[in-house]
Amino acid sequence: MSANTFGIDLGTSNIKIYDKNADGVVIEKNMIAVKNKTEIFAYGNSAYDMYEKAPGNIKITYPLSGGVIADINHMETLVRLFVNAQMKGQPKPVDVYVAIPHDVTEVERKAFRDLIRDSNIRARDIMLVEKALADGVGMDIDVMNSQGVLVVDVGFETTEISVLSLGGIVISKLMKVAGRKFDDTIRNKVRQELSLIIGEKTAENLRISLRDLDKSGEEAVVYGRDIVTGLPVERKISTGMIDRSLVDDFDQILDTIKATLERTPPELSADIYKHGIYLTGGASQTMSLAQHISDGVNLNVNVSEIPDVSVSMGLAKIIREKAFRSLAYDIDGNSK
Ligand SMILES: Nc1ncnc2c1ncn2[C@@H]1O[C@H](COP(=O)(O)OP(=O)(O)OP(=O)(O)O)[C@@H](O)[C@H]1O
Ligand SMILES: [Mg+2]
Repeated sequence: MSANTFGIDLGTSNIKIYDKNADGVVIEKNMIAVKNKTEIFAYGNSAYDMYEKAPGNIKITYPLSGGVIADINHMETLVRLFVNAQMKGQPKPVDVYVAIPHDVTEVERKAFRDLIRDSNIRARDIMLVEKALADGVGMDIDVMNSQGVLVVDVGFETTEISVLSLGGIVISKLMKVAGRKFDDTIRNKVRQELSLIIGEKTAENLRISLRDLDKSGEEAVVYGRDIVTGLPVERKISTGMIDRSLVDDFDQILDTIKATLERTPPELSADIYKHGIYLTGGASQTMSLAQHISDGVNLNVNVSEIPDVSVSMGLAKIIREKAFRSLAYDIDGNSK
């Protein structure tokens, strides 16, 4: 018997780890700070706190890029540190369920298994689960019996658009437009309109606060460096201008949803039409996005109530409930 089972959603921004014994999810930034090229200086949320503020000899990076593992050594280190923290130092074998994107190569898919195997956490069974199916289960959709479910997960670096049917994936597309790209667009807009350079975190906070500011009718206040004088300044910017600047990014997501719908077999389209689109992922909460998609395809959009953790809540159910066991399989394709 393994001592515990973990369900891991390796996001490009946040790593979410479901711990079966504790029956809870721990969320940490998927980030590592390395000092003088070798020393692990900080990781997770504390590495994120230093991001954009650290001196040159401390390099802070995301080991995942575009949804796949870019820096395997640091990703292994992070998995080990996070899982060991959950195990409170007990060196006992564990089972691990890891969520993987569908639209990646065989080598990239295998890399997720290898990562867990090689991260020194004494992983016994390593099971893979398609991320979109975990999303569906997490959102309480009957993915085992439904014929035609469209799930759109807008995360940090990736948006995954998938059509599910009868417990499997019919089509899935992974695209690199999500929260981080929205923030880049906002930074460019602020630079253009106000001659002001702002950091990634400032842009992200501004985007997250858009909804509240819009409700209260206030302008956003941003801090950054004036391009002309080079001095730190505070400026106000209209929320409408920021909101409008994101239309092109939203359109890219919309176009991929449309292309996916065009490729969907007609029998499944009928179900999608009846039930609407399921929207999840942290950045799906960005103001106007759900409405933009709904208007663009003329379908109802069901907004997830747990956008940050729909994948990990799905993994939790797959781990706990026998009815979902067939959604998890090992590298040879066998379920438990
Ligand atoms: N309230 C909010 N409003 C808008 N965006 C939000 C909100 N909360 C979080 N986000 C955004 O969600 C994104 C992170 O979401 P999530 O944790 O789903 O990504 P991830 O799983 O790490 O990335 P990926 O799935 O692309 O690998 C960030 O871009 C963050 O700015
Ligand atoms: Mg994600």
